[in-house]
Amino acid sequence: MTTTDSATCPVHTPGFAGAGFNPFGPHGPDAYAHLATARREQPVFFSEALASWCVTRDADIRAVCTDPATFSSRDVFPRPTGLPPKAQAVMDYHYDNGTVTQLDPPAHGPIRRALHTSFGPRAISGYDPAVRATIAAKVDAIPHPQRFDLVAEFSAIFPVAVVMDVIGVPAEDLADIRRWADELVAVGLGHRAMTEEQLETLGADLATAVAYFRGLVDRRTAEPGSDLVSFMIGDGGPALTPDEVANNIFNLVAAGYETTGSALTNTVLALLREPGAWDALVAGELDPAAVALEGLRLDTPILGNFRTATRDTVLGDARIAAGDRLLLLYGSANHDESVVDEPGVFRPGRPGKAHLAFGYGLHNCVGAPLARLELEVALEQLARRFPRLALAPDAPLTYKPLMQVRTPAALWLTAG
Ligand code: HEM
Repeated sequence: MTTTDSATCPVHTPGFAGAGFNPFGPHGPDAYAHLATARREQPVFFSEALASWCVTRDADIRAVCTDPATFSSRDVFPRPTGLPPKAQAVMDYHYDNGTVTQLDPPAHGPIRRALHTSFGPRAISGYDPAVRATIAAKVDAIPHPQRFDLVAEFSAIFPVAVVMDVIGVPAEDLADIRRWADELVAVGLGHRAMTEEQLETLGADLATAVAYFRGLVDRRTAEPGSDLVSFMIGDGGPALTPDEVANNIFNLVAAGYETTGSALTNTVLALLREPGAWDALVAGELDPAAVALEGLRLDTPILGNFRTATRDTVLGDARIAAGDRLLLLYGSANHDESVVDEPGVFRPGRPGKAHLAFGYGLHNCVGAPLARLELEVALEQLARRFPRLALAPDAPLTYKPLMQVRTPAALWLTAG
């Protein structure tokens, strides 16, 4: 029985206040135990470490997500300042050409609708054969299959290949785009942990990425095709500047990359920790789509995302002031005992309402139908090629130091 909650919380103290709580730092390994205490004792608590109100219960998070007038998505990550010039220029470009994730209504709507035409369920069913072929090829290409790191050799590769097909980016540019997506996430979410020299090097490379995506937009402007880029710059599209389209496309690759790969890693880890579960998947006794959904519920890579209060308000017992930041802990809502029975247990196909791994309301994940298809196919294909897959003994499990993304840095497996 896999469990991520613990009966006795190691960080519990009477009068829980959570001030030092930081799921992206020291609390990474025991984040779920800490959040279980919070849901019981102080469901909306202030974390000094995150300078944010942490919202832990399912109902409170749903309420925040459906009230964008009070809880804004703008500027939830303060614009980084004081970076070396090249890294600063790239971050400024990112902030000056707003992406869908950071916009409130009414600016949010047109971009969201445009993305939905390419990522909604109907569009994605059309991509199904191509997604299956791409993922099967990436599984077959895993080198050294007797003992391999799933993260480096598969999870970090297949989502970029898939999303590039959908967006209409040439396949031969995969290596560059994967590196840029990695770098964008690393600088955007991890710049505080980097040296000046690292930032300057990454900034220079990311400037090439910006030029690449802007060039793609210019080429599609001259010669439109039937892909997402052409749609976004066309007459029926959201009326964005070429730089806004380029920046949104670049961010889409990054949004669909670390998330989907990390979800796959977390789900394989949960499966292999559960005695008999991999055999059941291989034997067709477990539905890969249900496994993917339950893997996301049990240990989502996007533990939470931020909002900013636009006015003074009250949430639970907490008095929130205008300008305060909130961290909506989707991962905590997915373990909320008031909506999930035995939340620490990995139980594919469990009944109940949809979980919050893809968010909720206005900003819920526009890529969810694609991500679910990718995860289902990736599990099917791994089960096909590795019927005796197991966790490698003696391989320590360390988590990536990235803000927001919760996933192991490496997952060493043996083919059995
Ligand atoms: C398992 C993989 C994924 C997970 C766990 C995930 C999770 C999320 C979550 C929690 C949100 C809501 C953020 C908020 O609270 O504001 C979100 C939004 C978003 N996701 Fe995903 N995502 C995944 C895959 C993808 C993919 C494959 C794409 C597209 C290629 C994508 C594109 C987006 C975009 C564009 C938004 C912003 C939507 C908006 O602001 O209206 N995601 N995702």
